[in-house]
Amino acid sequence: MATNRTFTMLKPDSLEKGYTGAILEKINAAGFRIVAMKMTHMTKRDAEAFYAVHSERPFFGELVEYMTRGPIVAAILEKDNAVEDFRVLIGATNPEEAADGTIRKLYAASIGENAVHGSDSDENAAIEGAFHFSGREMF
Ligand code: RTP
Ligand code: MG
Repeated sequence: MATNRTFTMLKPDSLEKGYTGAILEKINAAGFRIVAMKMTHMTKRDAEAFYAVHSERPFFGELVEYMTRGPIVAAILEKDNAVEDFRVLIGATNPEEAADGTIRKLYAASIGENAVHGSDSDENAAIEGAFHFSGREMF
């Protein structure tokens, strides 16, 4: 499988609860190389644009509120089969359904507040990475 990239965010609940270091350790231990990383605070407009695909869903307002209530850590990660392997590492959207040892099983509170984001395709990984980082911030 070719080396590729995915995009992640440690969501506001992860930072509020002090899980940043533990989650980054899991990401490192799973063999991902950090290509870009920063702490940032999404505006309402940022979150609405980032999650535009969910704009008609009933949870959209809550999702935007959640993602903008505090800072996040955004990162681009590289590894063989990065997109798929990272989705395995984070686990199911609902932590009650997430496999043991996954980041969401360990650190997520609920389906709404689920600790981390992971891109769902190579195409979206590229779009989401470019949303947060310029070429000069990728290494
Ligand atoms: P993400 O995009 O953040 O990696 O999450 P995902 O693919 O596992 O799930 P997705 O369906 O894309 O949903 C995006 C985020 O919306 C919130 N959500 N809340 N209350 C609810 O029923 C509900 N469903 C989804 C979560 O924060 C989810 O990660
Ligand atoms: Mg998603």
